[in-house]
Amino acid sequence: MKLLRITLLAAAALACPIALAQTATKLKVGLMLPATGTFAALGTAIENGFKLYVTEQGGKLGGRAIEYVRVDDESDPAKATDNVNKLIKRDNVDVLVGTVHSGVAMAMARVAKDSGTLLIVPNAGADAITGPMCAPNIFRVSFSNWQSSYAMGEVVSKQGRKKAITITWKYAAGEEMTAAFKEGFEKSGGQIVKQLTVPFPNVEFQALLTDLAASKPDAVFAFFAGAGAVKFVKDYAASGLAQSIPLYGPGFLTDGTLEAQGDDAKGIYTTLHYADSLNTPRDNAFRLAYAKAFKLQPDVYAVQGYDAAQLLATGLKAVNGDLAEKDALYAAMRAAKIDSPRGAFTLSKAGNPVQDIYLRQVVGKENKVSGVAVKALADPARGCRL
Ligand code: BEZ
Repeated sequence: MKLLRITLLAAAALACPIALAQTATKLKVGLMLPATGTFAALGTAIENGFKLYVTEQGGKLGGRAIEYVRVDDESDPAKATDNVNKLIKRDNVDVLVGTVHSGVAMAMARVAKDSGTLLIVPNAGADAITGPMCAPNIFRVSFSNWQSSYAMGEVVSKQGRKKAITITWKYAAGEEMTAAFKEGFEKSGGQIVKQLTVPFPNVEFQALLTDLAASKPDAVFAFFAGAGAVKFVKDYAASGLAQSIPLYGPGFLTDGTLEAQGDDAKGIYTTLHYADSLNTPRDNAFRLAYAKAFKLQPDVYAVQGYDAAQLLATGLKAVNGDLAEKDALYAAMRAAKIDSPRGAFTLSKAGNPVQDIYLRQVVGKENKVSGVAVKALADPARGCRL
């Protein structure tokens, strides 16, 4: 039996020596994520989710054992190009997985496009990544910034709020999410009376809260995430504004943050492609496995990390672990139907999820689903030529 196996391996090696040599080596995954700063917890959840899926597959994807190379990108766009080049040129990674911050992810996409390295984005929503920068080797398993916030416009308008103010960090994610909210809100008869910003990752909100109190809109739409979202929601409640002006946002405002926000987040409505109370067998199994492995409750970021690994696994399976088979690899990934804890989703031609957007409301320590705001929402992929 052993002799037969050796003979078969030798025959395969003679027939296709390069492919065999490649698939016998470990697949190097470059995890470029924030480990410090306001988005640190988001980076940890993505990494945990990715590793959970790999562990569930016995540590191998497409027959290849996985080796991780990690870089803390610090959510700093100024360091992004150097960081991603280190992963490609110094560490020779096969695949890039990253990141959280839209500005950092755009630098990653630029380098991935130029070098032809496979990139899977597990969070950052920069519209350009699956818009003008789209490429056969670039995939996203999370959302576009437009997708996360467009649906909330109609929700807020239907709740009878006609004048709103937006508030966010001044960088691509905040600007695109508030623009998408404005698009949806104005289409439904609402009016944006002011758009307020603070530089990223500043969390000094006092001047802006004073402005909100003086302006007295019917609603406030805010994008902050991670530690910044905790601080904003707490400051908003402490200012007394939560009593008179309801706060809305994309789900990042209250995802992975409820433990720290406590009662200050109570009742907030958000839209997102995940929620805490889906109660499907797939999500329940994922949540249980995640809690067991990490002694933490999962959030949307953990789901996105898990799905990044699922997408990579689908591609690798189609090519038996041989990344050199680029056309077949990318075709299998583009055609994938991902059995995600959020609900199954497919990818658009531009490589972005086509997915349900849930309306959620904070009840206790949960982002509880109160309906589907839009079914199978696809990003418009403006400017993508594929
Ligand atoms: C972004 O920069 O794209 C982003 C960061 C945190 C949460 C959601 C989006």
